[in-house]
Amino acid sequence: MYTSIDQSIEILDRSRHSDYKAELAKDVCRGLERFPKELFPKYFYDERGSKLFEQITELPEYYQTRTERALLESIAPELAGEYSFTEMIEFGSGSSAKTRLLLDNMTSVGLLERYVPIDVSRDFLVATAEQLDVHYPIHVTPVVGDFLDGLEHIERSGPALVIFLGGTIGNLYRNDAASFLSKIAEGMGEEDALLMGVDLVKDPYLLHLAYNDSQGITAKFNKNVLHVLNRELGGCFDPDSFCHYAFYNPDDTRIEMRLVSGINQSIPINHLDIEVMFEEGESILTEISRKFTKASAERLLKDAGLRMTKWWSDSEKLFGLLLARKR
Ligand code: SAH
Ligand code: AVI
Repeated sequence: MYTSIDQSIEILDRSRHSDYKAELAKDVCRGLERFPKELFPKYFYDERGSKLFEQITELPEYYQTRTERALLESIAPELAGEYSFTEMIEFGSGSSAKTRLLLDNMTSVGLLERYVPIDVSRDFLVATAEQLDVHYPIHVTPVVGDFLDGLEHIERSGPALVIFLGGTIGNLYRNDAASFLSKIAEGMGEEDALLMGVDLVKDPYLLHLAYNDSQGITAKFNKNVLHVLNRELGGCFDPDSFCHYAFYNPDDTRIEMRLVSGINQSIPINHLDIEVMFEEGESILTEISRKFTKASAERLLKDAGLRMTKWWSDSEKLFGLLLARKR
C-alpha cells in the first residue's frame, strides 16, 4: 500500500485508486437520481478545486481562515509546551498552511517526530507533503484517500495530536459527523487529543457574504464539480448554464450551496450511459456548511464519545477551536 516518490517520502494510498472512478460513478448516479439532486463536496477537490479553495481562504469576505490562523498563532506555543505529542495526524489537510504554525512550535520544542496529512486531493497533497518534508526535521507521511476512513491503516507510535481544521466538520451532516468523530475516538488512546476548528453561528449577513464573494471565486469553486464530472465521467455539463447559489438556512444553522440550472436541459454522462434531466430552476445541492455554538459542538463531541477540554474563540466569536479527549 506504501509507495515512494523520488526515494524521499512514503505515501500511503488508502484511496484504492483504481476504485476511485467506480466510487465517483456510484455516488454521482445515486446523487443525481435523488430529489433534490445532491453531490458530495469531496468531489470539488481536484487540483483546480484545491487551488480555488486556497484563493477562497484569502478573500476579504472569508473570515474563517484568517480568524482560525490568529487563534492557532496564539495557542500553538501552549500546545507545543504543555503536551508531549510525538505525532500529528491531520484530516483534510489541504495546503497545510495553518498547520505550519503548529509544526514550527512543535518541532522547535523537539518532541514531534511525524506529521501525517490525509487528503483526497492527491497531487496537491503530495506536492505539499514534499515541501514540508524538506522544510521540517520530521517524517512526513501523506495519506491519500477519504478521511471518513478515520485512522484506519495508520501506524501509531506515540501520543498524537489529531487535527481537523477549517470548519470542515461542518461539511458533514450531523449523523455523519458524529459517526466520523466516534470512529476517530475509537482509534484514540488516553494520551491523544483532537484539535478541531468550528465555524460559529453569527449574523447571517456575514455568512452570506462569505459564500457569495464579490470576485466570484466561490462560484468558480462550486462549478468546479461539473468540470470534474465532465473530465472523469464524460459528462457534458455546460457550467455556464448553472448559477452559483448559496444561502444561510437559520433553522438548520447551515449554509447550503447549490448549482441552479438556468434552462430546461438533458445532460449526457457518457461513461455512465445516462442522461440527467434538469428543469429550469432545478438545483444540485453541492455542499452544506454547518455552523456551531460552543454548546452544539460540545453535544456533538459527547455523542461521539469525546469530551471538550479546552475552547478558544476570537473576541468577535466568529470561529472556535477546541481540544477534546476520549471520555
Ligand atoms: N484544512 C485546510 C483545508 C480545508 S478545505 C484548511 O483549513 O484550510 C477541505 C479539505 O478537505 C480539502 O483539502 C479537501 O481536498 C479535503 N477533503 C474534503 N472532503 C474530503 C474527504 N471526504 N476525504 C479526504 N479529504 C477531503
Ligand atoms: C472546507 N470547508 C470548511 C469550506 C466551508 O466554508 O464550508 C468549503 C467552502 N465552500 C465554499 N467556500 C468554502
